Amino acid sequence: MTPMTVNDIIHQLSTAHTASRDELVYLLNNITDDEQETLRRAAQTAAREHFGNRVFIRGLIEISSYCKNDCLYCGLRRSNRSAVRYRLTREQILDCCDSGYALGFRTFVLQGGEDAHFTDEVVCGIVREIKRRYPDCAVTLSLGERGFDSLRRLFDAGADRYLLRHETADRTHYGRLHPPQMSFDNRVSTLRFLKALGYQTGAGFMVGSPFQTTENLADDLLLIQELQPQMCGIGPFIPHKDTEFRDFPQGSLRLTLTLLSVIRLLQPRILLPATTALGTIAPNGRELGILHGANVVMPNLSPREHRKDYAIYDNKICTGEEAAECLECLRRRMRYIGYEIVTDRGDYY
Ligand code: 5AD
Ligand code: FES
Repeated sequence: MTPMTVNDIIHQLSTAHTASRDELVYLLNNITDDEQETLRRAAQTAAREHFGNRVFIRGLIEISSYCKNDCLYCGLRRSNRSAVRYRLTREQILDCCDSGYALGFRTFVLQGGEDAHFTDEVVCGIVREIKRRYPDCAVTLSLGERGFDSLRRLFDAGADRYLLRHETADRTHYGRLHPPQMSFDNRVSTLRFLKALGYQTGAGFMVGSPFQTTENLADDLLLIQELQPQMCGIGPFIPHKDTEFRDFPQGSLRLTLTLLSVIRLLQPRILLPATTALGTIAPNGRELGILHGANVVMPNLSPREHRKDYAIYDNKICTGEEAAECLECLRRRMRYIGYEIVTDRGDYY
């Protein structure tokens, strides 16, 4: 059998939505600029088949910068004594939803560090109130690892979706990015449990995180292929000055875009955001993400006075803007490349 070329692999991804580990490694290591344009077009075409020129928005509300965890890459890790900590009150969170609803948001994402203040009782109360006020909206939680009972209670209270990036599909690599108390197995079993409970579930990983190899990325893609999450969040690693990863280089724009395209072809209907991290490493990063197969953007709905303190990585964009400004900015950016932001829950079908 003659070995596959990069173009063969792209063709196979486009038609059969599959690739082996060796093929993924080969593609990621060897893809030329011309081949990347072929891949990009195939991914954009696949996204257009399912979503047309529609881009879904999610209103991101960063509810707490407290975190009991200590992930080595993250600016909110508990050992970062320089981090400014805040948490939003229930009323502040509901106010964000009120203004978001008026702007056309139909999904609210409550994201935060692992903050003991946000007990099941507190979060369930907030979820119920959002669903009472806005029965036509989806609520997404992104609150880290919680126990199975907790995740079930939040689901029963009305949460529709849960984001929990797996961060890396390689156990050894996982161990180099996280403190010993954290476990890869728990991460993955939590993801499987979320899906089994009925959440629309989001996995995901960083591109270019310290010590990452191409093989690790191929395994990330295979895990996505196996888990079949409804959503996948990927963005470049960006160093944070107060972490021990401060001197590692940021992830590559080109590689992130290649991976977005591969994910779109592996799972054509997946909800795939062009992330804030992508917009942080390149001024037109989110537009490029959409052109490479992404179909979601997540403007910030957090109160402006706290935005700069939700500092996962350095130089995060949109810390000085109001929600309406970010939405208008993104609307303009999307129109410029031929896409329209829509008022829609943007569920997985
Ligand atoms: N650079 C890029 N992304 C990061 N995240 C955390 N720290 C960084 C960083 N330094 C991502 C993780 C996490 C998500 C909320 O942000 O993937 O799951
Ligand atoms: Fe926030 Fe452009 S999206 S300023």
